[in-house]
Amino acid sequence: MAPKESIHGSWSSRWAFVLAATGSAVGLGNIWKFPYITGENGGGAFVLVYLFCIALIGVPIMMAEILIGRRGRQSPINTMHTLAIESGHKPAWMYLGVMGVLAGFFILSYYSVIAGWSLEYLIKAASGVFTGQTASGIETLFGDFINDPKYLLLWHTIFMMMTYLVVARGVKSGIEKAVKILMPALVVLLLVLIGYAINTGSFSQGVSFLFNPDFSKLTWGAVLTAMGHAFFTLSLGMGAIMVYGSYLPKSASIAKTTFMIASADTIVALLAGLAIFPLVFANALSPGAGPGLIFITLPHAFGQMDGGVFFGTLFFVLIVFAAWTSAISLLEPVVTWLVENRGMRRATAALTSSITIWLFGILTVFSFPSDSPIKFEFSFIGETKTNGVFDILDILTANIMLPLGGFFIAIFAGWFMSRDATRDELDMGDGFDFNAWRFLVKWVAPTLVLIVFLNIFGII
Ligand code: PFF
Repeated sequence: MAPKESIHGSWSSRWAFVLAATGSAVGLGNIWKFPYITGENGGGAFVLVYLFCIALIGVPIMMAEILIGRRGRQSPINTMHTLAIESGHKPAWMYLGVMGVLAGFFILSYYSVIAGWSLEYLIKAASGVFTGQTASGIETLFGDFINDPKYLLLWHTIFMMMTYLVVARGVKSGIEKAVKILMPALVVLLLVLIGYAINTGSFSQGVSFLFNPDFSKLTWGAVLTAMGHAFFTLSLGMGAIMVYGSYLPKSASIAKTTFMIASADTIVALLAGLAIFPLVFANALSPGAGPGLIFITLPHAFGQMDGGVFFGTLFFVLIVFAAWTSAISLLEPVVTWLVENRGMRRATAALTSSITIWLFGILTVFSFPSDSPIKFEFSFIGETKTNGVFDILDILTANIMLPLGGFFIAIFAGWFMSRDATRDELDMGDGFDFNAWRFLVKWVAPTLVLIVFLNIFGII
């Protein structure tokens, strides 16, 4: 039997869960990754596929992940083990939890490096380095920065320490308060930036890039990236939301909370796109600039606008916080497992995993400097990737491990758990249709993931 309460604690209320899960979902994925992959994949059609994946794959799978977590009340690995046995199936389902822990490990290793870039840019913004710079000056600044491993390593170290400190104390204290202030502030600041973009940028060109679908630009590679990003941005497919669900009080409605989290996440991503693309076009920058896109576009804007030092500093502070609340959720599944199965204290578990992930992150640090042996080019389903190990980890996790994890979570909730068990968790009498969810999770979500995978591997 699954325990009634998680030994790691529980949220003080449904709101605490919504805030923490939103903190997990909204992060670098929304502000850094969404704009650059949209730029690389041609805009509108890509965005449309992404929105479609959020609604038809992400939302039902998020509900599945939360309900599995709440029913199992343990680390993802043990939750899958318990629920599989409870429903009369093989304990091998726990390997789904193992894959999730591995995915979290890989993602955090590079996530921390990019969050480190934001820390550096926070200092740069505050010290007025961007003021009056030309676009090419800002590009040089970015190029010089990522070519110098010293600083990349320093900031990666600091960010991993920040993540360790929160997770060591238990994820509840702090997150709630931080997200309550952070999320509204982030939205307000994005609106300020959009206001700036309306006045000085090529706003209509930016809007049309984001929302006018040109399907001739849509490749199967782009569809895979859009689908993978739906998982990444909602923190799905690896147990992060599952572990947060394990701290959720039984009385909270999973459907309602999922809707709030997914909406907040999507809104922040679209606002980020609306702020960034008009500036990209106005300054003749390339939308396909890759991971450096926001670190070039936005500092240039901050350097030109009135109050740019203030807004720039605030913006990077908010990105750092957004990344921090996401990083915490990436580490949590690993830590809960070490506590439950290795008998470690939480602080020891957090330290051991943080150090290992930090070490692994060095591979990403050295994926960017141009003279580094692990910065290399390769081609992945017709697209050229230039940042060696970083790109490999990104493709492996976001495009393969998370969708695969999500696929099996849907299969487990839809086919292996009993109808009564899922209904018991989901049916809170809030006017939401249980059968619609079950249809989506049993048929629609897994079929869509499968179609994309089969296409990528050239099977259909
Ligand atoms: N959702 C986070 C973002 O958009 O930045 C990243 C992330 C967090 C992915 C937690 C996966 C995860 F489990």
